[in-house]
Formats: sequence, C-alpha cells, structure tokens
Amino acid sequence: MKKKVLILGSTGSIGKATLEVIENQQDTFEVFGLACKENVELLNVQIEKFKPTYVGIYNEQVKEKVCFDRARVFTGIEGIKEMVGMNAEIVVNALPGSIGLEPTIEALKCNKILALANKESLVMAGRIISKLLKEGAARLFPVDSEHSALFQLMQTIDRKELKTIMITASGGPFRDHEKEALEGVKPEEALNHPTWKMGTKVTLDSATLMNKGLEVIEARWLFDIKPSQIKVLIHPESILHGIIELVDDSFITYMSYPDMKIPISFALNEGKRRPLPFNKLNVEDFFKLTFYPPDTDRFPSLRLAYEALNIGDSALIVLNASNELATFAFAEGKIKFTDIPALVEAVLDAHPHVPVIEDVTTIYEIHEWAKRHVTDLLRGFNG
Ligand SMILES: NC(=O)c1ccc[n+]([C@@H]2O[C@H](COP(=O)([O-])OP(=O)(O)OC[C@H]3O[C@@H](n4cnc5c(N)ncnc54)[C@H](OP(=O)(O)O)[C@@H]3O)[C@@H](O)[C@H]2O)c1
Repeated sequence: MKKKVLILGSTGSIGKATLEVIENQQDTFEVFGLACKENVELLNVQIEKFKPTYVGIYNEQVKEKVCFDRARVFTGIEGIKEMVGMNAEIVVNALPGSIGLEPTIEALKCNKILALANKESLVMAGRIISKLLKEGAARLFPVDSEHSALFQLMQTIDRKELKTIMITASGGPFRDHEKEALEGVKPEEALNHPTWKMGTKVTLDSATLMNKGLEVIEARWLFDIKPSQIKVLIHPESILHGIIELVDDSFITYMSYPDMKIPISFALNEGKRRPLPFNKLNVEDFFKLTFYPPDTDRFPSLRLAYEALNIGDSALIVLNASNELATFAFAEGKIKFTDIPALVEAVLDAHPHVPVIEDVTTIYEIHEWAKRHVTDLLRGFNG
C-alpha cells in the first residue's frame, strides 16, 4: 500500500521539492491532498499532475478558480485543519510563519507522521509539541537541513556522550557587509540568497540571521537541549549542515549537497535513506569548507533569539510574531533592514514575561498582543 501524503504549502519552495521527491518515489507515496494560500494557477497544474483526493485553498475568494470537484475543496485554516484530520498517513507542513502552528498541533493530535518544515510551530509552541509527541503516537521528522542533519547525528550516539550541537548558517547575502552598509540594503538585495532558493519569509530571515535564531529555538525543543549547548557557525558553502561535539572532545559531522529534497526524502521515508537522482556533492567540494563565528553586533537577531530562550516561552512567541511583522514591513519598504531587530527588541523588552506556557489559547493571546504592539510601533517609523 502506498503511503498517503498531504502537503500544506504545495506551491511553495518546500512543497514543490516534496512533489519532486514523491514523483521520484511513486512506488511508495501518493498525493492525498494539496493546500496553498492562493496560487491557483500552479495548484491547478499540480492537481492535474498528481490527482489528489482533496484540495485546500486558504483564500476562499479564489476557490471558484480551482479546477476540482467543489465538494472536495476546503478553504481557510479550518478547512486545512480538517484535511489534516483525514486519512493521510504523512502530513508535510511547509506553511511559512505562525499560520503553520494550528495544522502542526492538529497533525500531532491525530497521530500523524509529521514532516515539519514550519519551524515557527516549534518556536511558538515547542513545549506543547514536545508533550504531544511524548504522550501520543505521532512522530515528527524535521525538514530543515540542519535539524535533519542533527537528528541523524543524534541517532548515532548515547545521549550522555553529547556536549554541544552546532548549527551552520550560510550567513546570508550580507555576511560580508559592514555594519553601516546594512542600514541601506533593499528588500530585493535581501531576497537574493547566495545558496538556497526559498520563500520570501525564510529568505529575509536568513538575511537578518533570525532564521538561525529560530533554528536554535527549534533545536532546543527538538533535541531537549539547553540553549548554552547550541552553537552557530557561519559556513558559506552550506555543505556541512550539522556538527555534534562529544564529551571526549571529538566531533561528528553531516554533509550533503544543499538540496532540500535530501531531508524531505529522509522525513517522508520515516528516517530511512534512499538513492536520490538529484544533485550530489563532488569530493573536491570537501576542500572548500570555511567556518567562522556569527557577528551578533552586525546581526542582533541571533542574540535576541538566545535572549528570548533564556527569558522563557512568552518571549519566544513575542520574538516570532514581532519578527514576522517587522520582516514584512521591511519587504514592503516601510522600515529599514536594521529596524527589524530594533523592533523585535523593543517588543521583547515591553512584554510581560510568562516563562512556562502549556496551552494554545495563551500562545495566541500573547501572539496577538505582540502583533498589536509591533503595529503601534510601526506607526512611528518612516522607512
Ligand atoms: N525553502 C526552504 O529551503 C526551507 C528550508 C528549511 C525550512 N523551511 C521552512 O519551510 C516553511 C515554508 O518555506 P518555503 O520556503 O517553502 O515558503 P514559500 O516558498 O513561501 O511557500 C509557502 C507555501 O505556503 C502556502 N501558504 C502561505 N500562507 C498560507 C496560508 N495562510 N494557508 C495556506 N497555505 C499558505 C503558499 O501558498 P501560495 O503559493 O498560494 O502563496 C505556498 O504554497 C517555512 O517555515 C520555512 O522556514 C524552508
């Protein structure tokens, strides 16, 4: 029997890569459902090619344009959650930002195999997600190159042997910019990532290094590890994705071509590796590996992520929400690049600390509070 896969965010970078993997592994997988926000043109192409059983479109206004049996088209976040509760074995959550949280929780409650690209779910609700995984039968496989690497490395050791984990970062398009030059960078420059072709939010987050901050938080929950045990290394070649440092001062590393189809295939196959007909590393590439520490003076977002981890759960929600809004304000030309971390820091400083949060309602209350606060602050910016 083929495994049924539901892909949330099928028209995005991870969604399209997932469909490429499935196309190549048709003996094992079939597409149960596809969901996106509003890119009906591409969704219709995917429907024609992959013949899903159900389709989701977040924006109800474009439902009429979806070439599919009306009765099997779901809309809004409620419709997408309903699809998650149906009988796909595997849910790929490749939604960007905080919209991904509810489908993640639903997939875990429904005991699905969750291939999780939406890192913001873990940032907002890592404690709740960890509990659901412990108490239920759901399984989570990270679809982030660094976390897939670390997940695989961790399987090779006894937990007592672990000293630190190291997450690599390309450094983004501005890694060599002087601090002063960052003030004037434009959204189109920030969207020009040197290694990865990704969606808008994650590309902009990579430029500020907030993406790495979110990944540090993601790792804290995925691997139940102290923030002080998580290190970040800038590695422009993006070939070595994760390193673990062991108690005997040795290191184990994971390397692969920077192609998301590798961690996607690993996740879909529930932690098994298969031959893949995509790009591969040349052995000569191994001689071009460089590493250096991140500069949190030029890129304060990474520092803010560590600070939020030390404050506790409310700070993680506030960090995520304020970053999301500030990043889109920059993309729309309303604020400067350097205003993004300044705004996040201002909201973090103003928020009432709640170190432990164990319910989704409180998460959304704090999330909404942070959005209102950023919106108020944005009125004072001249871009
Ligand atoms: N791209 C990567 O290489 C990469 C690597 C690691 C982790 N991730 C993570 O994976 C997630 C997705 O990233 P991405 O680069 O694939 O993003 P993306 O290219 O922007 O794609 C986002 C997808 O989600 C859909 N979507 C957006 N809002 C939605 C909503 N409200 N309801 C339903 N669908 C919605 C979009 O639909 P429309 O096309 O209709 O807008 C699109 O299909 C992010 O959390 C990111 O951090 C990405």
